[in-house]
Amino acid sequence: MTTVDLGAKANRHLWGHFARHGPGITPPIITRGQGVTIWDDTGKSYIDGLSGLFVVQVGHGRQELAEAAAKQAEQLAFFPLWSYATPTAIELAERIAHYAPGDLNRVFFTTGGGEAVESAWKLAKNYFKLVGKPGKHKVVSRAVAYHGTPQGALAITGLPVFKEPFEPLTPGGFRVPNTNFYRAPAPYQDDEKAFGQYCADRIAEAIEFEGPDTVAAVFLEPVQNAGGCFPPPPGYFERVREICDTYDVLLVSDEVICAFGRIGSMFACDDFGYVPDIITCAKGLTSGYSPIGAMIASDRLFEPFDDGKTVFGHGYTFGGHPVSAAVALANLDIFEREGLNDHVKRNAPALRATLEKLYDLPIVGDIRGAGFFYGIELVKDKATRETFNDEECERLLRGFLTPAVFEAGLYCRADDRGDPVVQLAPPLISGQKEFDAIYEILRGVLDQAGRLL
Ligand SMILES: Cc1ncc(COP(=O)(O)O)c(C=O)c1O
Repeated sequence: MTTVDLGAKANRHLWGHFARHGPGITPPIITRGQGVTIWDDTGKSYIDGLSGLFVVQVGHGRQELAEAAAKQAEQLAFFPLWSYATPTAIELAERIAHYAPGDLNRVFFTTGGGEAVESAWKLAKNYFKLVGKPGKHKVVSRAVAYHGTPQGALAITGLPVFKEPFEPLTPGGFRVPNTNFYRAPAPYQDDEKAFGQYCADRIAEAIEFEGPDTVAAVFLEPVQNAGGCFPPPPGYFERVREICDTYDVLLVSDEVICAFGRIGSMFACDDFGYVPDIITCAKGLTSGYSPIGAMIASDRLFEPFDDGKTVFGHGYTFGGHPVSAAVALANLDIFEREGLNDHVKRNAPALRATLEKLYDLPIVGDIRGAGFFYGIELVKDKATRETFNDEECERLLRGFLTPAVFEAGLYCRADDRGDPVVQLAPPLISGQKEFDAIYEILRGVLDQAGRLL
């Protein structure tokens, strides 16, 4: 099969996700990966600066994960969790519960992150109906946050442009401000803690506005991805936890990106010192060697379903697939054996310091993130923090930056779902050598981008 054949077939038959199609557009075809490097069908190599899509934590080409999948497929390729169980799903549920904080001991498997978010909202509604608070069904989430594409998860997502084609969505989603300190309103620009309190208090306000008897859950990422890596200000989650307890609203920590070492712990709520009622996760659980997701619920939420007859009427054929569960267990073994979380904690300051060397470029407005998860916000005017208009974003991000970075040998993402950012999330095995290579490429391309303005 030649490259030309594959490209033509892709253009004729493959429907890309969130992808443009049309004359002159052929997707890059990625054929191989090893460590932090990927190769395309012409043999050209790239640094995988985004771990695929915040997924490939342990790096590409791990034979033992391929072998774990093959071994399980030979033994038992498939059996559902619909009133039955499999050894790998049981072992993985126990292992995840062991890593999860507090009394989050019950694991409901899905095939991905959006399904985990969808499951969490359904559980929140169902739980409150069972405990005599049937009006509690609404959810609060943050502006510009991405929580997935099922129509419930999409109603939690705070990106109007992604929702508009599919309206009306599941009713009941309400938005509060996110924690973008770079764009904090007056009088909070110089006081991160006060800004955090302000943002958290908007959640209490939304609950009050909607009526506490109608609100079931708050969905928050530990570090919000869309918009470009907004870490929580100090004290933010402490206040959010208080608010959720006051109003009996569930706190859902959407860790589809942040779990499994991205910030430096198995679950990022531990990095920021809060215990949610539910964690949603996916991506890094298998490092992408097979798909799986999970909703992890507290004992309190499971209790009404533990009476021998009440059923959570929800499920997915492939949820907790035995092969994916086997791969997840082997993946978590790698985390333990290689000390990947400690590696991230130890090397995160070096990643930050390396990226911060870009600050002298006029186009670089803000560099923010945590662990191995960073966003670089690009601005038209550094002094005023003026951002780009739609036409400039189109020309700069899509027209120049995305292809130029890739051409220069770095796979990462230029994202304009909020203000324009370059997003970075290298595999957790990366070190200074990879940070330097990423920096060199970004420096060259961002410098050029600045000149094109
Ligand atoms: C925070 C968050 N939640 C949910 C999702 C949806 O996950 P999936 O694409 O696996 O459905 C994503 C995907 O990137 C995400 O970042």
